[in-house]
Order: sequence, then structure tokens, then C-alpha cells
Amino acid sequence: TVQGGEAVPSARGSAARPTAKVAVIGAGAVGATLAYAVLTRGAAREVVLHDIDTAKVRAQALDLAHGIQFLPMAHVVGTDDLAACAGADVVVVTAGAKQQPGQSRIDLAGRTVGLVRTLMPRLAAIAPDAVYLMVTNPVDVVTYAALQCSGLPRAQVIGSGTVLDSSRFRLLVAQHVGVAVQNVHAYVVGEHGDTAVPLWSSATVGGVPLLDLEPLDGREPLTAARRDAIAHDVVHAAYEIIAGKGATNYAIGLAGSRVVEAIVDDEHRVMPVSTLVEDFRGIGDVCLSVPTVVSHDGAGPLLPTPMSDDELAALRRSADTLRDIARQTGP
Ligand code: 2OP
Repeated sequence: TVQGGEAVPSARGSAARPTAKVAVIGAGAVGATLAYAVLTRGAAREVVLHDIDTAKVRAQALDLAHGIQFLPMAHVVGTDDLAACAGADVVVVTAGAKQQPGQSRIDLAGRTVGLVRTLMPRLAAIAPDAVYLMVTNPVDVVTYAALQCSGLPRAQVIGSGTVLDSSRFRLLVAQHVGVAVQNVHAYVVGEHGDTAVPLWSSATVGGVPLLDLEPLDGREPLTAARRDAIAHDVVHAAYEIIAGKGATNYAIGLAGSRVVEAIVDDEHRVMPVSTLVEDFRGIGDVCLSVPTVVSHDGAGPLLPTPMSDDELAALRRSADTLRDIARQTGP
């Protein structure tokens, strides 16, 4: 176990905000970047990084701990012992097989679900009160398996889902329209993967419905062909990044750390995380993303996000695909 950045307790106890303990399982590119993002956001007082590769997790934790001087105060632990996750507020699971160039996320299902079935019952016994944020792909199938095999309540098992796809969508819309990405509100729902569904009908820019917005300042109109190209780019973004650098890590690290922050700060923030959907417009028995209220309790209510008939039909197809894969990899 490597430790660094020990807090010096003040006479009046610790500062108000960052008291949370966050554990990250898997010290690969995604786990380490996510831990780094949690630290830079000051979202945790203690970050435990776990991996079965002892040398690697020690090295990652040391590298993170050496930067604590430049960040909000935190304590970093690198360990191969799952017991170090005890008392965590959030456990983020990033461990699993790596997507190779040309592979889809779904291609990883068999191997990853096996790992989740071994890992989750052990983790749930060590940290029964934590909210679990599953990041490992195929994340929706992994979230469903994690929920089933851990026996934890629905609220406590969340997948990072389409939080990242939605930020890719918002960026492309923002670039097309010519406004800041923070002024675009738009969601991608369904699978974090090939059947993801960008919701055009409910997208807004500065409060104006995107589909009603006239081009600003001589920009190009948002034609059907342009919308198709954006939707294609949202879904294929990860393939492009994996082809170029072997993995994606920065944006998923930031997206995951933002979900962690919504949990530890009890934000009640609306995020398209993957949760067990029991009856959303007749869709059920599947984990997928729709806008969901995220708080310290984990996943709260789903929002009744409006959808066009085509969008809802695409969401149903996404649900059917995920349910089939979950059955194939089921116990
Ligand atoms: C991503 O979308 C590969 O799921 C990962 O970046």
C-alpha cells in the first residue's frame, strides 16, 4: 500500500466540503485519469486506487500523490487490497478488458461480465453503503450484471452511461451553432455504444429549442444531413480515438468525476446515467441511460424527457439490443 498527501487535522476538525472517500477499481488509463479528475475537482478527501497489478497501482498512486501540493487537500492510497474500499462513499469500477481497434464495446461483454460477477459481491460486502459507478464497458450490460450479482438496491448501482456521449453531442452542436458548449442542453439516451440515440427534439440552445433556432451570424443551417453527420460522429467518436491513441481516457475521466461529484455533494443533478429502467414509456428490465436525478443516494427519479416517435422507436431498439446481450451473458 502506498500512501501520500496525509491531511494535517485542524483543531476544529476537517473543512466543510471535501470529506468524501472515493475508491477507484482499476488503475489503467481510465481509472487513473478519473482519480486525477476527482482530485483536481477537490471532490474527495481520500482517493483509494485499487488494481491487481501491485507495481502499477503503487506507481499510479505515487504519481498522483506527488501532485497533491498543487491541488485541494486529499489523501491518496494505492493498493491491491479490496478491503481498503471500506467506508467509501463512491466506488468507481473501471477494471476490465480493453477495447481493441475495430472492436465494439459489446464485443467485451463476455469477459467483462465474468469479472464483474466475481468482483461485485466482494465489494458489496466490503462497502455496502457506497454508491457504485460502473464505467467498464459495455457499461450498460456491466451495470445490469453488477446490480444482479451484488444484491444492492437499484439506486446504488449506476453506470456512467451516456454522460460522455451527451457531452460529445453538446460539443458538436455547440460548434455547429457557434455558442459555448455549456449553453447547449441536449441528451444522448439508450446504450453507451453503437445504438445510442441523440435527442434532437428536446435539445435547447440558451433556452431556445435547437430545431427552431435560425442559423446565427450567417452559420450553416442544421439540415437533416448535418444532423445525421453529427449523430454519426457522436457514436463513432470512441472508435476514432481508439484508432489514434489506443484508448479514450480524458473525457471519460472528467465525465465520471462529474458523476462522483454529483453524488458526494448531493447535487440532485440531472445526468444521463445508466440505471435499471423498470418502466420508461413501456421499456423495462434493462439498464440504459435516460436523464436521471443523481444525489448522495445515487440514482433517483428518471425525467419524463419528451421524445419524437422516431427517437422513442430508436430507444426501444437500443433497449432490445441491451436486453439480448444481458440474457446471453446472464447467469
Ligand atoms: C468511450 O466512449 C470507449 O466507452 C469509451 O470513450
